[in-house]
Amino acid sequence: MPESSYKHVKEIEPSEKEEKLRGWVYRIRKMKDKIFVVLRDATGIIQCIGSQEKLSDNAWNNLNEVAIENAIAVKGHAVEDARAINNVEMHLSDFQIIHKGEIFPIAKDQSKEFILDNTHLFLRSFKSTNVMKVKANVLRAAREWFFENDFYETTPPILTGAACEGGATLFSLKYFEQTAYLSQSVQLYLEALIYSLEKVYAITPSFRAEKMRTKRHINEFWHIEGEEAFVDFKGNIEIQEELVAYIVEYILDNNKGELKELGRDTSILETVKAPFKKITYEEAINSLNENGFKLKWDDDMKTEEERALSNIIGEAFFVTMYPSHHKPFYVKINEDDPKWCFSADLMAPEGFGEIITGGQREDVLDTLVRRIKEEGWEEKDYEWYIDLRKYGSVFHSGFGLGAERLSWWICGLDAIQETQPFPRTRNRVYP
Ligand code: 4AD
Ligand code: MG
Repeated sequence: MPESSYKHVKEIEPSEKEEKLRGWVYRIRKMKDKIFVVLRDATGIIQCIGSQEKLSDNAWNNLNEVAIENAIAVKGHAVEDARAINNVEMHLSDFQIIHKGEIFPIAKDQSKEFILDNTHLFLRSFKSTNVMKVKANVLRAAREWFFENDFYETTPPILTGAACEGGATLFSLKYFEQTAYLSQSVQLYLEALIYSLEKVYAITPSFRAEKMRTKRHINEFWHIEGEEAFVDFKGNIEIQEELVAYIVEYILDNNKGELKELGRDTSILETVKAPFKKITYEEAINSLNENGFKLKWDDDMKTEEERALSNIIGEAFFVTMYPSHHKPFYVKINEDDPKWCFSADLMAPEGFGEIITGGQREDVLDTLVRRIKEEGWEEKDYEWYIDLRKYGSVFHSGFGLGAERLSWWICGLDAIQETQPFPRTRNRVYP
């Protein structure tokens, strides 16, 4: 990389040597012969002090004119001061405005709608910046784990011809003379890739046309999906718990500062170590009923039940062996007791609930075809997928981890929307 003559805030240490910084104005305080400007860059903030006697007329005029969120470049040397942010401040010898522009519209106590309309500007807030730094490392740690464990990263398509997760949440679009859909999951394509690469993953956008507005759903999210040949239900769960434990540990090692600024109590995160606790769906229902719920054996666990269960268990845990008709056509049915299928959800504690769904895939050709028809779908739309069970079919498993669900839990945020720049929700595709 070409070396820049500009430093970043986090590199600044007390010294007689002059350094240059550039960034944006976070705060300003003006006195008669001194002006204090807090400069913000990607790595932090630092207070800069300019005094009339030490600056050229031009630099002093610039300081007098500068406003919040103007882009600036400064020169000076850093001095230790116990009262300053991070105990250092810059004593300026020069101050330039890169771009002055208009009055910044974001201020304290604005309505949620105003903030959402101005997401493009609100992204500069500390909260958003801290969350984005954590999320960047969630994706980085996931890639590292897959790389270390010999998975190939692949790039399956996002435009698809048929549903993976049920027709109700499909976004359709005109694709020349045909109808196409936005991907809900690249799982079916990953399944095709295991026959050559054996262990594959993809990190792609997934779309769900869910109409409800909740704190845990967005209509576009980033999906971390893995698929492995010759791995059964149990082996797949081991992969998931190792991956999630690795990501959580990576964040605790590398993002302590961000989590602290977000006010996250990390005590439960510190206990996230493989293996995780496992309970069956039946045990989950019993446990909920012991805690005041009145569920029947094949009732769906909705948000409320999931949140309650997640609080009861109090640590990351898997719910395994769901009723077969709860889960999509591709999940392997337990041939010994077809009421149950080899699907598991990984639940985050503290009320956050599901962050992964995964399981073993159906490899019995007739069962697969029957299940596709039971969904009311055309066999011909899935012919290529059914083909995979005709030529050297092997047992295999996989999973999908929502990058935003995981980041939401790790950061301990109120709503998942806060983990996505420009979240797509029911009423919003702007900005
Ligand atoms: O549970 P889901 O629907 O499972 C699948 O899509 C499988 N085909 C994955 C696979 O086996 N390859 O979605 C998987 C995960 C969820 O557990 C959740 O983390 C996330 O994707 N997810 C969402 N995240 C945010 N908003 C939504 N609307 C989400 N829907 C799913
Ligand atoms: Mg699921």
